[in-house]
Order: sequence, then C-alpha cells, then structure tokens
Amino acid sequence: MEYAARITGIGSAFPKNRVTNDQLSQKMEALGAKTDDQWIRERTGIRERRFSDKNAPQEHNSSLAYKAADKALEMAGKTPDDVDQIICATCTPDTLIPSTACWIQHKMNARRAWAVDINAACSGFIYGLSMGEQYIKTGKVKLTLVVGSEVLSPFINFTDRNISILFGDGAGAAVVERTAPDASRRILSSHMLSDGSLWELFYIPAGGSKLEVTPERYHQNLNKMTMSGKEIFKVAVRTLTSFAKTALDENGMTISDLDWFIPHQANLRIIEAVAARLKLPMEKIIINVDRYGNTSAATVPTALDEGVRDGRVKKGDLVLLDAFGAGLTYGSILLRW
Ligand code: UT7
Repeated sequence: MEYAARITGIGSAFPKNRVTNDQLSQKMEALGAKTDDQWIRERTGIRERRFSDKNAPQEHNSSLAYKAADKALEMAGKTPDDVDQIICATCTPDTLIPSTACWIQHKMNARRAWAVDINAACSGFIYGLSMGEQYIKTGKVKLTLVVGSEVLSPFINFTDRNISILFGDGAGAAVVERTAPDASRRILSSHMLSDGSLWELFYIPAGGSKLEVTPERYHQNLNKMTMSGKEIFKVAVRTLTSFAKTALDENGMTISDLDWFIPHQANLRIIEAVAARLKLPMEKIIINVDRYGNTSAATVPTALDEGVRDGRVKKGDLVLLDAFGAGLTYGSILLRW
C-alpha cells in the first residue's frame, strides 16, 4: 500500500431537546407502558437522551451530520473544498432517495466530493471508517469524511418498554487523511463480520420495498424498531469481547497496551460485562450512553470526539473502537491517535 490513513479531525452534534428518564416515563405512561427512572438507570445506565425536533430543519439527520462534519473539518484545518469522499453510515436517512451523504454534501457545499450512504446499523461508523481507509490506502482518495449519524426517534415504538428507553439521536464525523504507511499515528487495522441469519433479533418490518407502510401497518407500529433485547445482549457481550481481542492479537498487543476503549454505547451493563471479560478497568473506557442513550452509528464517533476534546485521548494513544449492531454486524478498529 502507498499510504496509511489517520483521523485528523473529529466532531459531534446533538439535538437540543434533552429527554430525561422521568420525561420519557411520562410519555410512555400516557400510552399505557410503564417504566421509571430507577429501572432505566439500573438496567442500562442511561439518564437522558436527545430527540430531534422533526419540524426544525437544523435537526434533520443530515443537518446534525453537517454540524459534526464542520467541527471535524475545523479540527483538521480543512475546508469542504478539500473533501474527496463522504461516507455516511446511517440506518435512519433523511430520505430513502437521495442518500443522506448527498444531503450532507449539498449542505456543506463540498463540490469535489462523491458521497454515499452505508447501512451497518450500530457498526456503521466502524464499517465506514474501514471503507474510507481502503480508498486512502490505495491513493484514490486524499481526504474522506466518515460520518455516523442517526435520527432514531421516529422509529421508536413508545409502547415497547425495551426499545423506547434505549435510543436517542445524534451525529459524529471524522476527517480521515493520508499519512505515511509507517507513520506511528494511523489506523492500524480493522476487523469486520456480519451474520445476516440473526436479522430477526433487531429489525424494522415495514417501510422498505418488501412491506410498504399502510395506515393499518402504521397503527400496528410495523414501521418501528423491534428487538429481542435479551438475545442481543448476549451476542453483544460475546462479540464485542472477541472483536476487541482479535484487534489486539493481530497487532501483537495486549489489553495492557490499550489507552482507550470506545465500544458501541448500547447499554452500560453490556460495556461493564465486556470490560470484566477483557480485564479492562472501566477508567479506560469512554462512555457517553448515560447522556445520549444508544445513537446507533453515532455512538463511537461521538464518544471519541468527547475523549479527544476533553483531553483524555492524547497524541499517540492506542485506541480501540468496537461495535455490534443490527444485521447482525460486528467490527473493531485499532488506531494510534
Ligand atoms: O444497538 C443495540 C441493539 N440493542 C441492544 O443492545 C439491546 C440489548 N439489550 C438490553 O439492553 C436489555 O436486554 C434491555 C435494556 C432491553 C432489557 O433489560 P433486561 O435486563 O434484559 O430486562 P428484561 O427484558 O429481562 O426484563 C426484566 C424485568 C421483566 O419483569 P419480570 O418479568 O422480571 O417481572 C420486564 O417485564 O423488567 C421488566 N421490564 C421493565 N420494567 C420497567 C422490561 N423493560 C422494562 C422497563 N421498565 N423499560
């Protein structure tokens, strides 16, 4: 390979509207579903999440993504004219056509870029980062913008106690640029796998080409997320642990080499279980699920952004990104920041 790839800028953006567990419980209770702050905190570690205002264009998926991308470009010292490629990982696009990546390109006026969406659900940012890295490695692309952005709230069935407590809206973006193949600060490796046979654990039945949304299906909530929480929990713990180990093994490293672990933020109990299996102290894990819930493809880049901006992630730190999601999809990326 001619080049290696490095993240040179990172950014995130969230909607304004904070919804606490108490507020959510009230909303759910009005629909006949019971939950409470204590249960949500004990079972998930989530205290609040953000829900975007569908009537506010600045809170559409592509607008949050654009804001996150703008911050990432600023950190990298680049402008939209420098962007060659936009990869947007999302399962909640603004529109089915065109792609959210094209909306982002339009909003940021990145006229030289080609733009594409990918859908790997919560593993999307890791898949997108790995795909962008390949284009950079071959020399085809100099600068790629990799976005993980979701507005999940329209797909929440607020009568489903498992789903409604977990999810929130937000966006994260990374500027990825060329560096020398032997540079110490770079993406070291990526590892991915999907298992489509487990699709039924987490899916949205209607709204695709297979089953259109009719008034009847809408009232049955078939256009909303449906999930087997307990089964996903087990698969998540197993695969996050194994993908973390693979990333370290393949680079001849061990858990003690790691400075920061940034797992997909679905549930604090999943993260704690993985940390215990890896024998990794919780202090080495960047967590934002308590304040934003599960923002799917946005959890990993927003947590990385937080760690970088508050000074925890420093130049040269070894950082492991790790995710699982609907599909099912799994993946990890090891990088030196
Ligand atoms: O991108 C990620 C995709 N999804 C995930 O990662 C989800 C992974 N799974 C989870 O996070 C957890 O399974 C949930 C948070 C969804 C559920 O937690 P759990 O500990 O697996 O709860 P459970 O479904 O086993 O339910 C335990 C009890 C039950 O009551 P009984 O039968 O013991 O009396 C439920 O009826 O808690 C009850 N319960 C609730 N109570 C209050 C379930 N949901 C709620 C709720 N509020 N929201």
